[in-house]
Parts: sequence; structure tokens; C-alpha cells
Amino acid sequence: MAKGRHFFLLLVLCLFAESRFAAATTNPQDAAALISLRKKWSNVPSSWSKKSNDPCGDKWDGVICNGNSRVTSLNLFGMDMRGTLSDDIGSLTELTVLDLSSNKNLGGPLTPAIGKLIQLIHLVLIGCSLSGNIPSELGNLAQLEFFALNSNKLTGSIPPSLGKLSKVKWLDLADNQLTGRLPNSRENGAGLDQLLNAEHFHLNQNFLEGSVPEYMFNSSMQLKHILLDRNNFSGSIPASIGVIPTLEVLRLNNNLFTGQFPAMKNLTKLHVLMLSNNQLRGPMPNLTELGSLENVDLSNNSFTPSGVPSWFTDLQKLMTLTMQSVGISGKLPQELFSLPSLQHVVLSDNQLDGTLDMGNNISKDLDLVDIRNNKITSVTVYSTLNYANLKLEGNPLCIDSLLSDTTPCTNTLTELPTTRPSTNIQCANPFLETIVFRSPSFGDVKKYLPELHSNLSSTLGNCTPNHLGDLVPYTDDVYLKVEIMACPVNQKRFNYSQVLNCFNLTLQTYKPPENFGPYFVHSHPYPFHDKVSRAVLIGVVTGSVLLVVGLTLIGVYAVRQRKRARKLVTLTDPFASWGSTTEDIGEAPKLKSARCFALEELKMSTNDFREINAIGAGGYGTVYRGKLMDGQLIAIKRSKQGSMQGGLEFKTEIELLSRVHHKNLVGLVGFCFEKGERMLVYEFISNGTLSESLYGIKGVQLDWITRLKIALDSAGGLAYLHDHANPPIIHRDVKSTNILLDAKMTAKVADFGLSLLVSDSEEGELCTNVKGTLGYLDPEYYMTQQLTAKSDVYSFGVVLLQLVVAKPPIYEKKYIVREVKTALDMEDSMYCGLKDVMDPVLLKLGGLQGFPRFLQMALQCVEEVGPDRPSMNNIVREIEMIMQDHGMTPGSMSPSSLFSVDSTAKKFAPRYPYTNASTSSTAFEMDSRAFEYSGGFPSSRGSLQNNRNT
Ligand SMILES: *[C@@H]1O[C@H](CO)[C@@H](O)[C@H](O)[C@H]1NC(C)=O
Ligand SMILES: *[C@@H]1O[C@H](CO)[C@@H](O)[C@H](O)[C@H]1NC(C)=O
Ligand SMILES: *[C@@H]1O[C@H](CO)[C@@H](O)[C@H](O)[C@H]1NC(C)=O
Ligand SMILES: *[C@@H]1O[C@H](CO)[C@@H](O)[C@H](O)[C@H]1NC(C)=O
Ligand SMILES: *[C@@H]1O[C@H](CO)[C@@H](O)[C@H](O)[C@H]1NC(C)=O
Repeated sequence: MAKGRHFFLLLVLCLFAESRFAAATTNPQDAAALISLRKKWSNVPSSWSKKSNDPCGDKWDGVICNGNSRVTSLNLFGMDMRGTLSDDIGSLTELTVLDLSSNKNLGGPLTPAIGKLIQLIHLVLIGCSLSGNIPSELGNLAQLEFFALNSNKLTGSIPPSLGKLSKVKWLDLADNQLTGRLPNSRENGAGLDQLLNAEHFHLNQNFLEGSVPEYMFNSSMQLKHILLDRNNFSGSIPASIGVIPTLEVLRLNNNLFTGQFPAMKNLTKLHVLMLSNNQLRGPMPNLTELGSLENVDLSNNSFTPSGVPSWFTDLQKLMTLTMQSVGISGKLPQELFSLPSLQHVVLSDNQLDGTLDMGNNISKDLDLVDIRNNKITSVTVYSTLNYANLKLEGNPLCIDSLLSDTTPCTNTLTELPTTRPSTNIQCANPFLETIVFRSPSFGDVKKYLPELHSNLSSTLGNCTPNHLGDLVPYTDDVYLKVEIMACPVNQKRFNYSQVLNCFNLTLQTYKPPENFGPYFVHSHPYPFHDKVSRAVLIGVVTGSVLLVVGLTLIGVYAVRQRKRARKLVTLTDPFASWGSTTEDIGEAPKLKSARCFALEELKMSTNDFREINAIGAGGYGTVYRGKLMDGQLIAIKRSKQGSMQGGLEFKTEIELLSRVHHKNLVGLVGFCFEKGERMLVYEFISNGTLSESLYGIKGVQLDWITRLKIALDSAGGLAYLHDHANPPIIHRDVKSTNILLDAKMTAKVADFGLSLLVSDSEEGELCTNVKGTLGYLDPEYYMTQQLTAKSDVYSFGVVLLQLVVAKPPIYEKKYIVREVKTALDMEDSMYCGLKDVMDPVLLKLGGLQGFPRFLQMALQCVEEVGPDRPSMNNIVREIEMIMQDHGMTPGSMSPSSLFSVDSTAKKFAPRYPYTNASTSSTAFEMDSRAFEYSGGFPSSRGSLQNNRNT
């Protein structure tokens, strides 16, 4: 009896507890589902603590409940969760928002149970690792408006049932591995043609195929963005696309579309039209009526060859025009270049001919005109265009002419990096996120970054205090990406709710400035906890488990070590296959530190040698930028197939290069000799060539001290080649495009690849195979046919003069050496003439310490005969002395000083210092202080900053 009473009491207590739990807190069905999910997911927010069984009452982060204690929103965006999406999710039947985006390690199949969430309005699972088919049950989500499964690993075909999602506005299945045809109601009973409320069809980057039938689209549709690019669609482009009056972006590029492009005159709102890389035929599309077009790309199709289309001058809003290899010929109209918003014109690989005359009303935003590989014979450019923005390589006017060494013919404009640049971290615990823009209208994102920054900054700032760092743009060769970094303000790090509610740009409530087009975001894992303390905690809890795991690992490690040892053997003997060609190439090269790369690895590092990764080209072949698996950036010099160089020479070259190590020489990382390919792999030098910086292409203005330092660095590298390399090496092609600048503006000499070994016995060895570049060549060489170390000195002298003049050695039919000498020979005040040839940037920045001595030295280097020129060692010492005598320590500069001061600095420009120059007998004996002080500027940096502060 007593026993019975106790039991009854207990039961009452339990029931009471249970009922209180149910009434005041989470609905038990929802609670059970979330608790079960918690078990399957790691890295859930700390509020999802094991102690809590009440998600609504205990306010689990990312969970929102309604008045009936039902869970209505589950948002765990960017938590770096691991696990799978189990059927439990199907119990949360009142859910209207499910957003688990940016959890790269959340994988497994997309459970059909999601089809039970019939209240769902937002289903957002972007950038996870979901695999398997899209379950047809998702067609039951009758309330769904926002449906995004992009950037997963989904396979199979698109289920026709999705045609029943009649409220869907946003459909994004892009960047998966979907196959098959687009489902449509006529053939499949249901299909995407029924989505009459949809504004977005984002199906790009899949393996979809087959034709797109006419009845996929009709005038009842509301589509704004149709992204079908990068699939395998074939057949003709349906003309019915042309009747959707709302259409703004149409991307059909990189498919197998054939036939003629249908007339689409009614698309008066279309901003972006991309048809490139298809097999379209027939006449060139007439785009005259599409008056809103801003970005057009018709490249690489098989249109009937034609003259320049008349619509080139009709599209008043055009910003970006890309038509590579489309068979157009004739002369480009001046009016094209006066279109008011024009930024990028890329018309390479066509038959354009005659004189390129861009007129004198060039759009002020125009910053790229790429007409490489056409038939242009001459060029008229007015001062309103920056020469540096013109690319004309591969036209008759660049071949065998004075122009061949000038910027338009050698231009390798720096485009956006193709891998995520390492962000310059500006705070502890920043939140990092990448916005991917799928079809911006503009050509040059840099102009629009400030607007994007302020727009984002205010949107994010309204949600949580943060400091938004610099935006970093890059591209994967497909879409534009912008890396954003938000720093916490007044707190050490963001908490869960800030990340979940403020940085989840997934629901498209954030509107970027116009022209950026459709986007989505990926977040990077955020450090919600201090790594150390977490590690300690885990250590305590799981110590014993670790012991077991550790023992297992030791076993695994031993096995792997053995495997690795085996692999290492093959690595240290990279020439196991060296003799496998038919050529007689002797023994394998003897290497000091260079590594042998597999062709496959280099292919991967350059995206299969895509053109966008090409950073330079010459007679020998092409140089590519690449990124190794470990993140190291490299520059790959790939010889043309069947180039002259034999295997034996290649071997000699790598043996030689692998011996040369100096901080001012570009280092050889390795090579590849496989399948007829000959490649040299160098370290990648981030800041481009000296000529780019000098000609202002990089937006950098080099001040005088930096130029001295660059001269010193590169002289150091050359002196090493001449005097310390064993055997000594003559560079043979010293020029400003062969001097590279790294992130700290340290100069490194490149391309001594085909250098000549100086024979031990004789200094002035005869060389028959001259490689040098016009404008830098030692005049003595023409007479004596002898190439010596002093020939390098001559070329280096030309580079030193370029540091003063900032122009190519031959410009406007003038030769830099003669121009400087003539200017100095002018009778009256000697430096007066020099002013006209000097780089205006130097005059503006002032502070020309040691300038006369430098000039004297440069002129000595370009003396007519070798013995009158100093040695590279002497040059190094002289520059060091110039720097020391003027209180500069080589190697102690702040990089920030390298960048241009803003335009307000103009008013502080020194009075021209040379006009009052002393009248002493030679200009070089003149009191050097005149250069430094007569303008009132003891040093460029100090004075400019001081002035700016006042
Ligand atoms: C467009 O197509 C849908 C589905 O195929 C159909 O329901 C609708 O009536 C069509 N509208 C027009 C104007 O043809
Ligand atoms: C796309 O089509 C091409 C040509 O028919 C074929 O070679 C390729 O394998 C297809 N790709 C996919 C992913 O189906
Ligand atoms: C284009 O629009 C006009 C007026 O809105 C309409 O009359 C015409 O039928 C449309 N043309 C096509 C091809 O849909
Ligand atoms: C292109 O279309 C416009 C307007 O429809 C027309 O005036 C022009 O003649 C067409 N151009 C060509 C080359 O057919
Ligand atoms: C972030 O998620 C919350 C909860 O789902 C939602 O209310 C909010 O609108 C989202 N923010 C953005 C910018 O999409």
C-alpha cells in the first residue's frame, strides 16, 4: 500500500513537471526535433547547451518561436556546423524560415522530410555540402517564396514537381552537379514554365543539357534574371525569352547553343547580355533596340564575318563591351569611345584594321581597350586616354616598329587576382564573408568599391556596431567576388546572435548599389571562442578518448611515414623519366634546391593554363600566375611547344638557375619537363614590374628614395650574377620589365634564364645569340659583336635613366639616352632642360637627395665604350654612398610612403629647384643641396605630411 502511494506521488510529480514543461515552453515535438538535431550537429551555438531541453524558453541562438511555443525560424547561418540534415527536421512543421547556409561541412542527402514543412517561406541551404537528388517532395512547399540550394553537391535532374511552387520568386539551384533537361509542363506534367511569379532562375554552373523549348517562357512571366550559363544546353535559344518584358540579366554563355540569336526587341530593361562561348551562327545580333544594355559579351561564337556592327554606337548606357573572336573587321568608329559610361572594350582576336583613332572625346571612365591580335597598322591617341590602358600586342603596328617596346605593345594590365587574396587583417576576430556577384555591369570594380563599402557599412552598422575593413575584390574567372571583413567595435568578438542576424545576407534583404547585379554570400568560419580555452576544455573532457585515438594515430602515422618515405624517393629523383624522350640529353640535371613539378600539378595551379592567368608573353612562350596546393604563389614560364631550346639547353639552364640565390634575384622554385613541355617555376613577385610602377599603371607613384632603393636592389642582384655566381652570368636582357617589385617594394631581377655563362678563362666571350631588347642594347655590341658584363651595365644605365624619366627607352621616336644627354648639354642653365624630360611625379614629390650624383653615375653607365663604364659592384657602392651621405639607410623605408599623395598635395610642389642652379662648370658638381632645399622640402615625405596637416 505504502509502496503504491509512493509510486502515485512520483507519477504526479513527473506529470506535473512534464505538463509545466509543455505549457510554458517549447512544444514537445519541436523540442524533441531540435534536441535530436543537436546530437547530429557539431559546432552548434553554445546556448544549445546539453543542459537545456527548452529551445524557446532558453532562447537558443538561431531559434525563433511563436506565441504557441512552436519553432517558426531556424537560422544557423555560417556556424561551421558539421553533420547531416536528418529526418528530424520534418517535425518542425510550423517552420517558415530554414536557413543553414554557409556550413561547408553540413552534408549528406537533402532529406525528403523537408517536404513536410508546408509553412516554409524561406528555404535557404546555400554553400553546404548536400549531395544526392533534389527530392520531389519539395514540390509540396506551397508557401515557398525563396528557394536557394546553390553551391552544394546535388546530383540528378530537377524534379518537375518544383513547377508546383507557384509562389516562388527566387529559385537558385546554381553551382551543383545537376543533370538532365529543364522540366516543363508539356512533357513532364509539371515544370519550371509554370513558375509565373518567379523573378530569378539561377541554374548556372550545372551539367544541365538538352534544348530549351520555346514554351519554357512566355509573356506571363515576371523573370528578371535568367542565369543558364555554364551548362551543356544545346539547340537554339528560344525566342520566347524575348517576350519577358521584365528581364534585366540574361546569361547563356558557356553552353552549346547553336543557330541564330533571335530578335529580342522588347527587352527594353535588359542590362546584361552574355552569349559568349556558344556555337551561335548567322548574322551578328542587332542589339540597337536593347537600349538599356550595359554589359554585352558575344565572344567566341561563329557568326558570319561582318563589319563593325552599327549598334556599337547606339547603346548609350554601355559600360562593358566584350567581343573576342567574333569575326568583325574594319575600322572602329570614334563614337564608340565617346559613349559616356564606357569602361572596358575587349575586341581581341578579330580582323579590325587601319588606324585606331579614338577621337578626342574619349569617355572619362574608359580604362581598358584590348584590341590585341587584330590588323591595326597605326594608332592615334589623344591625351585624354592613358596610354597604359591600351593593349595592342599582336597587331602589325607592334611588330618590328619603334612602338614594339612601348606600353601598348607590351602591356600586361593587372587584372583582378584569381584566388582569394590573403586579407590584410585589421583587427582581432573579424567576421569574414565573400559576396559573389554573378553579373555586374561594370568592367572595373575598383571604381564601385567605395559605394559598395558605404552601402554595406551602413546596412551592417544598423544591425550591429562594427568597423568594415577594406573590401578586397577578386575573381574566379567566372564571377566577381568581394571579400568583406567586419571588425567588432567595443567588444572582443561578435556573439552568435550578431553573426546569425546581421551578417546573414542570404535572404537578399540587402540591396547592393545598382550595377552589381545578383549576388549570394559565403561566410568563413568564425572564431566564437578562444581557441586555447576551448582546446583545454575539450582536452579535459576527452582526455581518455584521446589516449585511444592517439594510439591508433601512431599506428596510422607509422604506415603513412613508410608510404611517404617511398614517395620521397621518387621526389628526390625527379629525373627518373629524364631519358625517356628520344633526344640525347645526357644525364639528369644536378640540382641544388629546385623541385621537379608534375605537369598535372602546374595545370591545376593555373586552372589549366587559362588565359586569364597569363601575366606576360614573349618569344619564348608565356608566363602564367599559379597557386600551389599549399597556397604558395608561383610564376610559371612555359616555353612554346616546339621552341628552339633543346632538352640539353633546358637542363643547363635549370642547373644554372638552381645554383643562383640572392635576395634581389627572382628565385627558381622548380621546373617541369614532361610530355614535351618545358616549364620553369619561379617565386611569384606580387607588385609587378618596375616599368608598370614607373609608367603609373599600378596607381603607385614612386618617390625618389624608393627609386634609389630599387636601383640599389637591382644593382645588387646584377652584381651578384657578375661577380659571385659560379660561373659568372651575364644577364643579357636587363630592362625595367625584367625588374620585379615585391610587396615591400624590394626589387628583384628576373629572366636571367637564358643568360650566358661567362667562360672562366676569358671575360669578353663572344656571344652569337643576342637576346637583348631594343633600346637597352649596348651600342658597342653592334661594332664588336662582343657581349660582356659591361653590356649589362649599359642596359642598367638605361634603366637608371628610366627611373628619372619614367618612360620607355624609346618613346615618341625619341631615345632616352640621347634625350637626357641633349637636355643636359643645353647651354644656359643646365638643369632647366632636364625638367622637360623628367618624370613630373618626381618634380611633384620633390626631395631629390643625391640626384646629381645619381645622374652622373647613370650617364657613366651609358658611356659608348665598355671600359668607361663602372662595374656593377662600383654601382652598388656608389648608390649606397649616395644614400648614406644623405642620411638614408638602405632598407628602412615605410612602404606607405610609396603611394601617391592626393591631389591636394599639388599646391605644395616645390618651386622648380633647377632654375636657380649654380653656374659651376659641370652640372654634376653643383651643390647638391640645391636639389633638396631650394624648394623648401628637406624630404618628400616629411614635408608633404607636415604640410597636409596644416
Ligand atoms: C504561360 O505558360 C503557363 C504555363 O505553361 C500558362 O499557364 C500560361 O497561361 C501561359 N501564358 C501565356 C500568356 O501564354
Ligand atoms: C557537355 O557536352 C560536351 C559535348 O557534347 C561533352 O563532351 C561533355 O562531356 C558534356 N559535359 C557534361 C558535364 O555533360
Ligand atoms: C513587343 O511589345 C509590344 C508592345 O508592348 C507588343 O505589341 C509586341 O507584340 C511585342 N512583341 C513581341 C515579339 O512580343
Ligand atoms: C538594326 O536594327 C535597327 C533598328 O531596328 C535598324 O535601324 C538597323 O538598320 C539594323 N541594323 C542592321 C545592320 O541591320
Ligand atoms: C537574417 O536572419 C534573420 C532570421 O532568419 C532574418 O530575420 C533576417 O532578415 C536575416 N537578415 C538578412 C540580412 O537577411
